[in-house]
Amino acid sequence: MTQQTSPHDIRGNPVRVGLPMAMLAELTHRCPLACPYCSNPVELARVSTELTAAEWGDIFRQAADLGVLQVHLSGGEPASRRDLTEIAASARDAGLYVNLITSGIGLTEARLRELDGLVDHVQLSLQGIDAEMADWISGYGGSFARKMQVAEWIGQIGFPLTLNAVVHRQNLDRLPEMIDLAERLGCRRIEVATVQFHGWADLNRRPLMPTREQAQRAREVVNQARHRLRGRMVVDYVPADHHATFPKSCMGGWGSTGLNIAPDGIVLPCHAAQTIKGLEFQNIRDAKLTEIWHNGPAFNAFRGTAWLPEPCASCERREIDHGGCRCQAMAMANDPMATDPVCSRSPFNARLRAEAEADAASDDVALVYRRMSREKRT
Ligand code: SF4
Ligand code: FES
Repeated sequence: MTQQTSPHDIRGNPVRVGLPMAMLAELTHRCPLACPYCSNPVELARVSTELTAAEWGDIFRQAADLGVLQVHLSGGEPASRRDLTEIAASARDAGLYVNLITSGIGLTEARLRELDGLVDHVQLSLQGIDAEMADWISGYGGSFARKMQVAEWIGQIGFPLTLNAVVHRQNLDRLPEMIDLAERLGCRRIEVATVQFHGWADLNRRPLMPTREQAQRAREVVNQARHRLRGRMVVDYVPADHHATFPKSCMGGWGSTGLNIAPDGIVLPCHAAQTIKGLEFQNIRDAKLTEIWHNGPAFNAFRGTAWLPEPCASCERREIDHGGCRCQAMAMANDPMATDPVCSRSPFNARLRAEAEADAASDDVALVYRRMSREKRT
């Protein structure tokens, strides 16, 4: 057997390695909310395995040296870490642009004031437009009122704010009110993101899958809002994959511009990569970030487009979407090398669409909430 020395993809083709720009730092899987569409893995990391603030500080310095420009402090709920301020300060000291992705629960006015000057931007999640909807979806009574209080403090302190509205069949009809709320809160941006059916969301396809009519109407609402709010607030929209003709370029291409670090230090090419069986992941406690980025087998597996099978190999879009999402191919086709089933040219596309239509037609409203088992809290 020939010894491979240079980075190579899953088929043994040499790969070109660029530099990452963004890093998602999942500080913890703990979260007071229990959203049924959480993108965290169904197997959550134990608290006792979480990276310490000192370890995060070292990672941020390594990331900056590697070329990372911005870090997203995420979770779970990052405010569940008592040392969030210390962690944010070390990201700032490393020279990174710091974005805090939060539900707001666990943030007090005092904690937010500590973060002033350390965090450049806050992204606040929105589960619904009123307490009835938001508290039901989040599985946490009183979450909406507390979130609105946090939004007010964020505005008073002056953090640039993006509202991250995760939409699905249960709340998509109230999209106009979500956009109005973002405007009232003085947001610079609202990101309207349709649920991606990975992690916990995959367990909730039936209650959450939007209908085709809802998706179409949402696009109209977004277009009208973009026109009305031009120059005042940006309206981003991530439509449901199932209604697209072609897939998105997931992560901008595997191992090309971004990476994730899980709470226990496992370094991942995307948040759902651990669903791909057979990939070999490394832990930041065992290797330097630059080594993992350049030579990690999981990072190199799907780099570039040389490994792509047909129909992607001869498709004119292969440098645009890189064959779509590997995790979706794993979930739907049980093959991470398959063409993303979202693509109309995939042999699995008809089945995906039929299943999405059936899920969307379901009157099931029973949610499987994200829960960390008692055992995993320790
Ligand atoms: Fe993208 Fe492959 Fe579909 Fe072409 S065939 S659009 S490269 S997923
Ligand atoms: Fe993993 Fe798309 S979520 S490649």
